[in-house]
Amino acid sequence: MAFDIEMIKELYSKYPERVEAARKATGKPLTLAEKILYTHLWDGNATKALERGKDYVDFAPDRIACQDATAQMALLQFMQAGKDRVAVPTTVHADHLIQAKDGAKADLKRSDVTNKEVFDFLGSVSNKYGIGFWKPGAGIIHQVVLENYAFPGGMMIGTDSHTVNAGGLGMVAVGVGGADAVDVMAGMAWELKFPKLIGVKLTGKLSGWAAPKDVILKVAGILTVKGGTGCIVEYFGEGANNMSCTGKGTICNMGAEIGATTSTFGYDESMERYLRSTDRDDVADAANGIKEHLTGDAAVYADPDKYFDQVIEINLDELGPHLNGPFTPDRATEVADMKSEAAENGWPLDVEWGLIGSCTNSSYEDLTRAASIVEDAVSKGVKPKAILGINPGSEQVRFTAERDGLLDTFNKFESSKIFTNACGPCIGQWARPGAEKNEKNSIVHSFNRNFAKRADGNPNTHAFVASPEMVAAIAISGRLDFNPLTDTLTNENGEAVKLAVPTGSELPESGFAVDDNGYEAPAADGSSVIVDVSPTSERLQLLTPFAPWEGTDLSGMKLLIKAEGKCTTDHISMAGPWLRYRGHLDNISNNCLIGAVNAFGGATNEVVNQLTGDKGEVPATARAYKAAGIGSIVVGDENYGEGSSREHAAMEPRHLGVRAVIVKSFARIHETNLKKQGMLGLTFANPADYDKVREDDTIAIKGLTEFAPGKQLTVELTHADGSVETFPVNHTYNAQQIEWFKAGSALNLIKEQAV
Ligand code: F3S
Repeated sequence: MAFDIEMIKELYSKYPERVEAARKATGKPLTLAEKILYTHLWDGNATKALERGKDYVDFAPDRIACQDATAQMALLQFMQAGKDRVAVPTTVHADHLIQAKDGAKADLKRSDVTNKEVFDFLGSVSNKYGIGFWKPGAGIIHQVVLENYAFPGGMMIGTDSHTVNAGGLGMVAVGVGGADAVDVMAGMAWELKFPKLIGVKLTGKLSGWAAPKDVILKVAGILTVKGGTGCIVEYFGEGANNMSCTGKGTICNMGAEIGATTSTFGYDESMERYLRSTDRDDVADAANGIKEHLTGDAAVYADPDKYFDQVIEINLDELGPHLNGPFTPDRATEVADMKSEAAENGWPLDVEWGLIGSCTNSSYEDLTRAASIVEDAVSKGVKPKAILGINPGSEQVRFTAERDGLLDTFNKFESSKIFTNACGPCIGQWARPGAEKNEKNSIVHSFNRNFAKRADGNPNTHAFVASPEMVAAIAISGRLDFNPLTDTLTNENGEAVKLAVPTGSELPESGFAVDDNGYEAPAADGSSVIVDVSPTSERLQLLTPFAPWEGTDLSGMKLLIKAEGKCTTDHISMAGPWLRYRGHLDNISNNCLIGAVNAFGGATNEVVNQLTGDKGEVPATARAYKAAGIGSIVVGDENYGEGSSREHAAMEPRHLGVRAVIVKSFARIHETNLKKQGMLGLTFANPADYDKVREDDTIAIKGLTEFAPGKQLTVELTHADGSVETFPVNHTYNAQQIEWFKAGSALNLIKEQAV
């Protein structure tokens, strides 16, 4: 197994000294989040206090995890770096591409055919470059990581927003874009703005129908989908100690839904139990050796208001079960209030499906608690009104659940469907019968996201998020407003019966078991492994390095588009059906900027082709300039490139011959992504100069032969009437990033330096 206890021991051996250095540098006791951040500084021991929410800091993560959709472009890029192996332990997980339809066996078989070239590619690249590969059916990335790789006090990054799930085992685990992951794979540092800190004090103990899920559903209601932005949420207090490790994972997982950088819990006995039960006594023993460093300092938790930027307190004794939704995970409703809320808002009361699973809630404990409800209903002669669909989190969970009779319990309902150990409906990989009719309906699930269309593509599906046991209860009742604490159901004999409160096992009594966990270790020496990509593939394309800078100023370029108003990475590189092409740069480039609003006329995906005078689509127009050997320029408004960190939004324009993006202001991650791809990302020194850019301009950028940090460049516009205007533009390139520009991309430079 690609799990390196020696690496963990080495990190732990540095912990006491590094934590002490951080205490000294900051002059105060430390939260857990600070301990993990300061012990992972790229430059070693802390020498100064870092300012939260302000300083950009280089870190050295311990691990990387990638899922099959985002891994494609990340690995294609890594192949450009000229390295033999990844610099940091990395795994790839085949989980997002498997569609749920008929049940696990048939679905997996079909997916192996439809996704063959992608799975083969990911498997062979992993094998070649020392990356662990978890095959289709092995499980959902974040459950597999929690079971095998997460460890207290560690830092990891992953190319998926719910990487944060590993906070359940006391990590700082952050979801990043592919470009960041590639940097770390290639041996570079990972940069993050030092986060602000939110403390959540948990008192009391969960009981009855309240579950860990309800903690985060409640927190989401308080903080909303934006409340955690730029922050690490740290949970502490007796209530945290009273909760299972996988329950903590659920809470951290949905930290992504409040926008948090990540969430974490201090090391405790529940984590030790989980480590030992998942065959990691060595990690538990090592963690016990430094356990005082794997949680926040007592002084911090005694006076949290002094040390956190914000503090929330939740009394678990008083917490009731929640149903959050529809269409947003922060619309929190206590189950007890659902009758009035649903009636008031006209939410469909009939529930057709209850779905249990996703990386959020597919642990052994989750399945036992949901199964206890099913068992109780069966014993009382109650038949389910809705279909129950279940995606176990991993093969280890599935195998153990089967051994312990849990799957048999679910199958006592004839309509139940056990799907593959994969994301399935959570990522819209769900062939739901009738979804295409777009009828208004309600479903409940234990997933994390419930945006319109997310699960079944139907914009009228009202999806509500709840704990697995509540999902089971609602599916059995078939009613959105069913409250199992007070309401009764009618059984086959016409009697009114009440469901018993859920019970479950934190961990399997006879331990976990698995036959084939689906892991493929990489070759010890991958030099002879061939990575096979068909030149005719629609979905995959090997990358060609971007051309280096020609060594002169740039001139004769045409305006491709002057975007007006909001231009997010979704406007630049749309998702939806385009995701199919995320491993094929040329094909996905056909979505380049098609969502951006043209400042001349207000249309989307319609610009003037200056070579013909005709109007055309943005990608086609860019291709026409490129074919004529003419560079093009994109002009944008404020906060250009906000949204997801997807690197395609920078790679596509670069691929289509765009030489510079000139905007009023950038979203920082996108600006960095442009720099990494060897593109010029520039800002108007005077934002009003945006108005000078005309639809038929020919553009030059001057000053590049003296390109230096802090030194302005000059843009020269030659208008169609022959008049010329110039204005200065700013940039934020440091010396290293200027080298990226000159080499054609950051990866080109890494490759040059490797030779
Ligand atoms: Fe997969 Fe859904 Fe999680 S897509 S990784 S199960 S959020």
